[in-house]
Amino acid sequence: MTRSPLPTLHTPRLTLRPMTVSDTDAVAKMISDSQPEFIRWFGWASSSTRPAVKEYIQSAEEAMSVGTAWHYVVLLWSGKLVGRVGLSEIDTVNRSAELGYMLRTDAEGSGVMTEAARGLLTCAFEPRHLHRVVAYADCENERSRRVLARLGFQPEGVVRHMSYHPARGWRDHVSYSLLEGELRA
Ligand SMILES: CC(C)(COP(=O)(O)OP(=O)(O)OC[C@H]1O[C@@H](n2cnc3c(N)ncnc32)[C@H](O)[C@@H]1OP(=O)(O)O)[C@@H](O)C(=O)NCCC(=O)NCCS
Repeated sequence: MTRSPLPTLHTPRLTLRPMTVSDTDAVAKMISDSQPEFIRWFGWASSSTRPAVKEYIQSAEEAMSVGTAWHYVVLLWSGKLVGRVGLSEIDTVNRSAELGYMLRTDAEGSGVMTEAARGLLTCAFEPRHLHRVVAYADCENERSRRVLARLGFQPEGVVRHMSYHPARGWRDHVSYSLLEGELRA
């Protein structure tokens, strides 16, 4: 796998830029503005504070500096930050990684996240030579599962009690994978 500074990526409607601590306010606002939806899937969203977001982004920057993650912010051409998409758990021996994403609720329903994830995965498979990307979606998270299906991810099975949600208890997730050559245009 190639290891060099992460590029800014462009798709027809979006710019994807590596996330930095300067994005703290916009990411915190995305989370607070989208809290009712995010809380359904992410237990941490109910108590997310600006310092916690800053600390998270600092740890994301550290992971990017050692090559174990690529964390991007998703910007409209206007410059507005509408989401995050990234790869974590990057394994350079097995050329694998895990996809994750979130989108402002007011930006849902127009294909923004599918386009953003496709842009990132195109870079991951071609210039960066990943072979396999995995993703997990709560079994009830139909919107997220449709994003993965549109991209060509294949379901592999259910991971029982993969996460604990303080209000909803243990959650089962569908495990998906996408191999190089399988990304849908
Ligand atoms: C998961 C999440 C990113 C999905 O958002 P989304 O808006 O449904 O996904 P996209 O931006 O790709 O948009 C796809 C929708 O836009 C529609 N659409 C409109 N124009 C489109 C286009 N040009 N291309 C693709 N889809 C388009 C699609 O039909 C689809 O709607 P549908 O699912 O009702 O059929 C968002 O709900 C979210 O962030 N949720 C909270 C956090 C979360 O769950 N993260 C994932 C954890 S696994």
